[in-house]
Amino acid sequence: MKILSLETSCDDTCISILDMHGSFSARGGSTLGGKVLANNSNSQINIHIPYGGVYPVLAKREHIKNLPILLQESLKQAKLDKKEKPVDAIAVTYGPGLEMCLWVGIVFAQDLAKKWGVPLIPVNHMEGHIFSVFGKNKGKFKIPKIKLPILSLLVSGGHTQLVLAKKLMQYEIVGETLDDAVGEAFDKVARMLDLPYPGGPQISKLAEEERAREKENQTLQGHNFSTEKFIQSSGRRPAESLQSLFSFSLPRPMLHSKNFDFSFSGLKTAVLYLIRKLAPPEIGGVKQLDEETKSKIALEFENAAIECLVSKTQKAIEKYGAKTLIVAGGVAANKYLKSEIKKVTGRKIKLFFPAQGLAGDNSLMIGIAGYLNYIKNKKKVPKLNKIKATGNLRLK
Ligand code: KG4
Ligand code: ZN
Repeated sequence: MKILSLETSCDDTCISILDMHGSFSARGGSTLGGKVLANNSNSQINIHIPYGGVYPVLAKREHIKNLPILLQESLKQAKLDKKEKPVDAIAVTYGPGLEMCLWVGIVFAQDLAKKWGVPLIPVNHMEGHIFSVFGKNKGKFKIPKIKLPILSLLVSGGHTQLVLAKKLMQYEIVGETLDDAVGEAFDKVARMLDLPYPGGPQISKLAEEERAREKENQTLQGHNFSTEKFIQSSGRRPAESLQSLFSFSLPRPMLHSKNFDFSFSGLKTAVLYLIRKLAPPEIGGVKQLDEETKSKIALEFENAAIECLVSKTQKAIEKYGAKTLIVAGGVAANKYLKSEIKKVTGRKIKLFFPAQGLAGDNSLMIGIAGYLNYIKNKKKVPKLNKIKATGNLRLK
């Protein structure tokens, strides 16, 4: 079944065409698979950089401009541009997200569904992220048999949630952030450190480099340490590096709380105070911080944020006896998160992360989730005019 999918919930305009087949049983068995016929997106990052975050009115304007272009491109790539009814169904994100942006995708999809006479499937963006882990950017993919219960750690710019599924596609949010989402905290800390938007990848790059340097220093200090060699290889004096290992310590909010909730706003504020202490506004603030100190702050921030995510995930796996763990959303692209999660899951738990390029927002995941909803609901879809943008839509 050919399915066209659209995603416009935030600042990426995305259109894909998938050829999906197969079915699944309530117990997780699967004959599901698909083939990517087209997968296109138009990132608006450059447009939003001057605002340090997504500017909704501009995002909406860009979606309106981009959708028809991406549609033509996608139909052509899939060799369906000459057909009167190029696909069998359309899937569109209807929430959560920025309502004015969601509406652009919905109205565009409604018009196409009417014109082609095909069903329109509304998709929850977060369920899309969950299924993103089974997709591939190109070619064919298979969705394996999934062992229940499934725990999903959803980490993006708008959400930080632990979601339990005792049955396929039936969700219970067992924990979530009480304030900022983890991706939002990465972005805000990046802004405090004067790094460009979106900050998550920038922070994780600095942290990764600094982690490697500190590991190297520790090795040097452990073996036959020679100050000369150290200065030669690192370009720094050892005393500074040793001291720095202990000098920045940021809080791990709610690490020991008895629930599965998170909080990242206190961590973000702690970074703000740390920067003010190291480089007070009266001497010029963050611009006075050297690159090394910035990297150390990025590292300690990433360590703290990831420790909170991993610790709660581990506790939730134990409490609910999860057999499958899915980690998805933009922050799932973080390499340190992946390596730390792997340490706590062991062999008994099947672990899924999105393929490269599918952690952040994309429409491929909306196509997969759309198809699964379509077969789960026995091909029943809501009437076209009943589909409404729902900014605060929750999984259930
Ligand atoms: O899922 P997504 O593309 O959009 C939302 O639905 O929000 O997630 C975007 C978020 C941004 O906050 C971005 O900074 C963060 O994911 N992000 C990362 C990394 N790559 C993207 N955060 C930490 N480390 C990364 N490597
Ligand atoms: Zn997202």
